[in-house]
Amino acid sequence: MLEFSVKSGAPEKQRSSCLIVGVYEARKLSEAAETIDKSSGGYLSAITRRGDMEGELGDTLLIHGVPNIQAERVLLVGLGKEREFDLPALLKATTAAVKALHYRGTTECVSHLTELDIRGVELEQILRQSALAIDAAIYRFDQLKSSPDPAPRRPLRKVTFITPSRRGLLEAENAVREAMAISSGIALTKNLANLPPNLCTPSLLADHARKLTETHPHLAVEVLDQSRMETLGMHALLAVAKGSTEAPKLIVMEHLGGEADTPPIVLVGKGVTFDSGGISLKPGLDMDQMKYDMAGAAAVIGLISIVAELKLPINVVGIVPTVENMPSGNALKPGDIIKSMSGQTIEVLNTDAEGRLILCDALTYAKRFKPELVIDMATLTGACVIALGRVPSGLFSNTRSLAQELIRAGETSGDRVWELPLWDEYQAQLKSNFADMANIGGREGGALTAAAFLARFTKDYKWAHLDIAGTAWVTGDNKGATGRPVALLSEFLIKRARG
Ligand code: BES
Ligand code: MN
Ligand code: ZN
Repeated sequence: MLEFSVKSGAPEKQRSSCLIVGVYEARKLSEAAETIDKSSGGYLSAITRRGDMEGELGDTLLIHGVPNIQAERVLLVGLGKEREFDLPALLKATTAAVKALHYRGTTECVSHLTELDIRGVELEQILRQSALAIDAAIYRFDQLKSSPDPAPRRPLRKVTFITPSRRGLLEAENAVREAMAISSGIALTKNLANLPPNLCTPSLLADHARKLTETHPHLAVEVLDQSRMETLGMHALLAVAKGSTEAPKLIVMEHLGGEADTPPIVLVGKGVTFDSGGISLKPGLDMDQMKYDMAGAAAVIGLISIVAELKLPINVVGIVPTVENMPSGNALKPGDIIKSMSGQTIEVLNTDAEGRLILCDALTYAKRFKPELVIDMATLTGACVIALGRVPSGLFSNTRSLAQELIRAGETSGDRVWELPLWDEYQAQLKSNFADMANIGGREGGALTAAAFLARFTKDYKWAHLDIAGTAWVTGDNKGATGRPVALLSEFLIKRARG
């Protein structure tokens, strides 16, 4: 986590070990670069003229010995075509700049990229998303390597963002303060999600939730164990846990920052710490990735840490049902009929559709908080990844205005969602001959029938469901957790807190 601050002022006057300024294609200096070029007698334009920096997006060039400036060196960063310059381009350039400096012994820098104007994007988002992109660029999860990949000898620690004018500096400072809280929440989410499943068990998640109260004593954290859940009748959740030697937990975290009698926003996160599929065992390929089946839980824990850190003046409750889904002689079987906490019975036709089984009891439990609204986040279906790929999270909601608010928060934060239908017609696919419903609805519309299943348990409140199966982590060479949808929901909650 870096330290970020804001400032306004002329580039040639910045005392820093490195000044970051942009160059558009082809060789067009940004305003800050232009200013430095003038005061240095054409030092920068001489370099671009030689062809060392064309301005291609993400290209970087470190320059020493620039005369008449206070900074020790200047990092030129390509911004791409000026007409096409937008927020994603800014973030790409920022990421490239930081990666270039991180390994060069620069512990501190001043960036003029944040003073570039982007139509339709507020300074607050430019600052916040720049900070998040920088932290994401240098994030690593190497705590379990005996000799971590060569770490920078003197890593980047502090970044100062230059703002276009002195006006709004207070808001800019606030934006950066919020960004740092969001960023550390995202890092917590990623760290939990990246942990291997032998370490990241339901009990460990509970310990991490409890640990939040050390830094944030105003949080109330309660962990319900198996016997409490039995008393409550959470037999759907408990059924999933039966095959595992790991004890199931229901983690409840309360941040009461608003008036005592205002109904809370309840966040629910799927916490399957490993999803083998159970008796309906998954194929072996990529099964390791099912350690990420608790990414929703990690996001809720991260979000609670953010609202607590920012002391948002709203009431927020986090609920994390957490289990391990394993095959064994004691495991849940296809054909089993279980009774959920709501009283509705479920015929389990596939033990790999376990997420909805733990979520339905958590969503029923949510009722006791008389919520203003409930948002659940879950790596729920492979079908959602087929439908939407890995760009947006799937959004379902029983309340139009809530869906719209989330779509907008997604566009603002860049952590986007795409709405899918929550229509009654899909309920027919969940028909069971022997129970109130089956836990699967066949191959067609798998993400939609999963949402339709949850909808049977959320009739009493405003509710949105985020299927984050395609967005919570990335595969391939950079395999790792993304921290989504923490940025989206931070934006949503901060907006709500402002009223
Ligand atoms: N955790 C998985 C969903 C998943 C699969 C997320 C792959 C990300 C990548 C979930 O528990 C699951 O297994 N869902 C099944 C449902 C099916 C049995 C109806 C699925 O998507 O195949
Ligand atoms: Mn599963
Ligand atoms: Zn699962």
